[in-house]
Amino acid sequence: MKSRKKSRNSFFMLLLFLLLLCVIAGILLIWRKKNIETAPVQHLETELYSETELETETETETQTETQTETESEAETETESETLPAGTVTDMTLSFYHVFLHVSDNAVMPVVRMNPPDALNLSEVWVSSDNNIASVDENGHITPVSAGECRITAISVSNPNVSAEIQVRILPDEEPLPDPQTVSCSGSPRDDIYVIGGVTYVNGIMIVNKTYPLPADYNPQGMTPVTKEAFSQLCQAAQDEAGLYLFSHSDFRSYETQVYLYQEYADQYGSEAADTFSARAGYSEHQTGMVIDVNWPGDAFNDTPEAVWLEQNCARFGFIIRFPREKESLTGYKYESWHIRYVGQEVAQEIMQNKLCLEEYLHVTSEYP
Ligand code: DAL
Ligand code: ZN
Repeated sequence: MKSRKKSRNSFFMLLLFLLLLCVIAGILLIWRKKNIETAPVQHLETELYSETELETETETETQTETQTETESEAETETESETLPAGTVTDMTLSFYHVFLHVSDNAVMPVVRMNPPDALNLSEVWVSSDNNIASVDENGHITPVSAGECRITAISVSNPNVSAEIQVRILPDEEPLPDPQTVSCSGSPRDDIYVIGGVTYVNGIMIVNKTYPLPADYNPQGMTPVTKEAFSQLCQAAQDEAGLYLFSHSDFRSYETQVYLYQEYADQYGSEAADTFSARAGYSEHQTGMVIDVNWPGDAFNDTPEAVWLEQNCARFGFIIRFPREKESLTGYKYESWHIRYVGQEVAQEIMQNKLCLEEYLHVTSEYP
């Protein structure tokens, strides 16, 4: 009886043990299944995260690029905002170097603004030392005492645009520099300089609507070099072609030109007069290096004398100063009779290349 009870207990114990094993096996199975299912999800999430991160980075880059583009556009807009249409962008002066005696009269540069149709073409003037040279609101530079200073023109339209003139004032007893040897530097046009109120480009005197002479400039007649060269030219015309050339008009003083120009202005109006007669101070006749040959009028055009003069004047150092089809550059209509002495080398280069003096020297001829 005792033995049957004992074997029944053993049977229950075994059953319990098996049940326990099943439970453990079940737990293990569930845990494993859970692990197998969880692992890919985690991996997928990582991948998703990476892609999202990538997308975020790409978005950030795109945003940065867009931002840069926007900033660049903004800068361009800011620039165009600071320079609206009609604003001055550039300024040039008719000269950048001045040498004057203390007692000399004022000189005034011609200012050109670009674009020429800008809304405000005016400028303000400042001297770096009013004790050396002063400047008025129109740009008249007046010597005060010996020394060096700078005169600056500043655009009213755009104060970032300015131009500077280097000024040297000498005591009256000290000679002004020689136009043939003077050396300038540090400006957009170092070849142009005003000495005692007279403008030179590379040593060649220039007188036109941009570059006047002082009212008191007076060589008292034709310069000796011009007179000698013209004499040789007239002799050659006679000897080589049997033509009679002579001076109808050569040196004219400032005062004579005042009278002459006024006569023409009264008769034809100043606009018409400006196309063939220079205002006082702006006539080359005041240099003593100019001759009106034979007859100053269109009747001289194409005469044998005019043809010979055009073909031969350069041999003697003269140029036809106001050639055909150069009116817009010289400021004057064609004058077949008006010759200017510039020296043989320069004259031959100008005449052979059919230039006018303004083209050769790269200067303008426009009244201020
Ligand atoms: N006829 C020239 C332009 C003068 O008057 O000087
Ligand atoms: Zn003339």
